[in-house]
Amino acid sequence: MGDAPERPSTRVLASLGQRAGEVAHDFDNSLTAIAAHATLIRGATDDPEVLEHARAILRAARTASQVVERVRAMLRGGEKHERVQVDVEALADEARVAVAARGDKRGVTVVRRREGHAATVAGDPAELLQVVVNLGNNAVDASPDGAEVAIVTADTLDGGAAIVVEDRGAGVPDELRERVFEPFFTTKGSHGTGLGLALCRAIVERHGGALALDPRRGGGTVARVALPLAGDDVPAPRHATSVAIRGVGLDARVLVVDDDDGTREALRVLLEAAGFDVTIAADGTSAVTSFATRRPDVVVSDLELGEDDGGAVISQLLAIDRAVPVVLASGKDAPVGAPWVARVSAILRKPVSPVELVATIRRLAAQRRGAMAGADTPRRESP
Ligand SMILES: Nc1ncnc2c1ncn2[C@@H]1O[C@H](COP(=O)(O)OP(=O)(O)OP(=O)(O)O)[C@@H](O)[C@H]1O
Ligand SMILES: [Mg+2]
Repeated sequence: MGDAPERPSTRVLASLGQRAGEVAHDFDNSLTAIAAHATLIRGATDDPEVLEHARAILRAARTASQVVERVRAMLRGGEKHERVQVDVEALADEARVAVAARGDKRGVTVVRRREGHAATVAGDPAELLQVVVNLGNNAVDASPDGAEVAIVTADTLDGGAAIVVEDRGAGVPDELRERVFEPFFTTKGSHGTGLGLALCRAIVERHGGALALDPRRGGGTVARVALPLAGDDVPAPRHATSVAIRGVGLDARVLVVDDDDGTREALRVLLEAAGFDVTIAADGTSAVTSFATRRPDVVVSDLELGEDDGGAVISQLLAIDRAVPVVLASGKDAPVGAPWVARVSAILRKPVSPVELVATIRRLAAQRRGAMAGADTPRRESP
């Protein structure tokens, strides 16, 4: 030790990633069931002691799922990634909302500044959002109560785009400057996984960019993400990424397709508790039958359906109604390049966070209704 941390080769990472994915699959199903049932217990009782235990279960399940997801995301390096145009301003705006929620509890305000030109980079919007949110969360954690965190968009010297997160915390001690990027290095005890920065760096480097943490003049830290601009050949995103749709009517019909009894039942109870009208199917045949007769507004499906291939089932449903939004909820990565993958509206990792799942279904149901009414979801135009 003592030397710069060694970087495993891409090939080793790719095979590790595959193994990690396999091991995590069953684990994910169990965690989904655990989280869903804990959510239900929380909603079904007023007993403060039971509530406290339910919350503790949810916290633990969330942490466990974060660890699995982050390790997997970090190891995902060897795979091909679909790259679309990502509007840097919109990305920073969206990140600010998420980070502000964490800051709220401690009176930490999160502000946005624009110091550069409007820029578009090529990437995976969800991954890039995760980077900025992770850096923002670190900034909030490091901030004293009531301090300010800034998310700044700027130009880089070489004509790329920069997203800078500034805080006025205690800063990173010199001797930890490189160690903070090591996986599992944390000074937050059980409150941190220590994977945030390792993941951020892996994602940013996969996007051809760089991530650095430097002291801020006047105290605190400046985390700086530099990314190259998108070339002309990069396609526009197929779906609006905004998550800020609220107050939508919840009378949407949802079809849940999952072969795992526990997961299917947990999802049904969870989604019914959220106000959706839910039908369940355990295999391809019953999914298609139920779809044709009930015409759900949104479909949630697993990738592996026992004997059946989730992708084939999803293709069949899309053949019946090509505009139906499909949410793929799976512990595995969707096969790169399969034609049906491009037509899926959202991909959620198992264990699915109940809140995220409900928000996603709500958003898609709203979009579908908007589309049916002839109005599309508003979206900022890229220059
Ligand atoms: N803005 C910052 N100011 C001061 N220290 C920081 C800052 N960002 C990161 N660090 C230090 O780097 C460590 C590693 O950060 P990293 O994001 O990888 O993990 P974490 O924040 O501890 O855990 P998690 O990301 O799971 O919440 C932190 O525990 C903290 O000590
Ligand atoms: Mg962190």
